[in-house]
Amino acid sequence: MPATCVIGLQWGDEAKGKLVDLLTLQHDIVVRYQGGANAGHTVVAGDQTYKLSLIPSGILNPAVQSVIAGGVVINPPSCLAEIDGLVERGIQVTKNLMISDRAHVIFPWHMAEDRALDSSVSSGENIGTTQRGIGPCYRDKVGRAHAIRLGDLYREGIEQRIERIVEAKNRTLASMSDNFEPLNAATIAEEYLGYAERLKPFVADTTSYLLDAAEGDKRILFEGAQGALLDIDHGTFPYVTSSNSSGVGVSSGSGVPGRYITKVLGVIKAYSTRVGGGPFPTEQDNDTGQHLRDRGNEYGTVTRRPRRCGWFDAVAVRYTARLSGVDSLAVMLLDVLAALPEIQICTAYEIDGQRVTDFPSHVDDLRRAKPIYETLPGWQQEITGVRSIEDLPANARKYLDRISELVGRPVDVVSVGPDREQTMFSKTSNLR
Ligand code: GDP
Ligand code: IMO
Ligand code: MG
Repeated sequence: MPATCVIGLQWGDEAKGKLVDLLTLQHDIVVRYQGGANAGHTVVAGDQTYKLSLIPSGILNPAVQSVIAGGVVINPPSCLAEIDGLVERGIQVTKNLMISDRAHVIFPWHMAEDRALDSSVSSGENIGTTQRGIGPCYRDKVGRAHAIRLGDLYREGIEQRIERIVEAKNRTLASMSDNFEPLNAATIAEEYLGYAERLKPFVADTTSYLLDAAEGDKRILFEGAQGALLDIDHGTFPYVTSSNSSGVGVSSGSGVPGRYITKVLGVIKAYSTRVGGGPFPTEQDNDTGQHLRDRGNEYGTVTRRPRRCGWFDAVAVRYTARLSGVDSLAVMLLDVLAALPEIQICTAYEIDGQRVTDFPSHVDDLRRAKPIYETLPGWQQEITGVRSIEDLPANARKYLDRISELVGRPVDVVSVGPDREQTMFSKTSNLR
């Protein structure tokens, strides 16, 4: 049966949440499979706006099973707060949410390490993490010795394990910061066992569940978090997140083999944004960037930091579309470009006098990359009320065609505003 993936192809915040919410109707199961509460996915449903962080955007549809798979890292108090917040707003979160017992747990020491580590990146510039403990938790997962998975919280001896870990973490953390207050193992154990009790009804072996679903007749929708340029292995390392946020992460995070995936939708903004540190060749640290930030309301969903804004980078997106096995594109926030007389697209980089169209593997080369731009005329009229791609102004259609040509993928979806209705599907798309 068909499984669809929604993958961000830039540095996150491409409006994946909006798209997942729309596609939920045609699916039985929606799965978050990597990342954690560093993500902030916005869904606007009528007069209600939901900011989802860990819970799949499918949760707004009670008929759909939402799954947090084993590749996700869970901060129990923030997960519970998110569940409580949804329930308070009348959203059903009972049997329709499942959380993997394999998911690794974020503890207070991970947050403390995140704060201490981010100011000591060996390459100088801070990563500017969301400080949610994501990197340190994934590091402990790979390191194994200090890792605790959600399922471990229900096993005997967990208090002793927490005690041993806290002993080691207190020593490390004391050496990392001067005014560090040692953590108390007994308090943390009691607190986390309390959270575990509350989470118990949701905890399950989601890998078996998803394999049964994939082998059966269920339609699965995979919701990517972050964007492919933040992928730990294939992104702009070290200015990345700590999971495989490109399309390559779907199978490792969910346990569902790639052979079941029938459609990959690559989500892009009609321009570029980035939150946090790291190179961004097409960044416009000027009036144009400020205009995009104002029009696009480009402030982080999780941290409220102003997002860095710039022109669309076709070199980067062609790379991430190939890397993620993208079939077609969803171009979001096209309305944000409405007032601009001219719009630039980066078609290649110049690095040390050479014209380059392959995305550089080393961050130093990306730092030196000067964008080579092509200038297209703007359309200079509002398009938030347009409801079919054919009715867009000719220059807007030309802009979409040029993006499609440069990236090498057709455009299936165009979005001209945050509401569900402000979304258009191409005639050839089989998404509706
Ligand atoms: P995500 O992390 O990829 O789900 O994206 P975010 O929710 O962090 O950021 C996308 C923002 O753009 C949200 O505030 C959405 O409500 C908003 N948005 C989504 N689509 C559109 C659109 O087509 N136009 C405009 N102007 N805003 C949009
Ligand atoms: P969604 O799913 C945008 C960025 C952070 C930082 C880097 C590492 O909403 O698109 P981390 O806390 O993950 O260790 O931070 O990654 N980052 C995001 N940027 N959108 C996100 O998620 C992000 N999640 C992490 O700003 O630069
Ligand atoms: Mg976001």
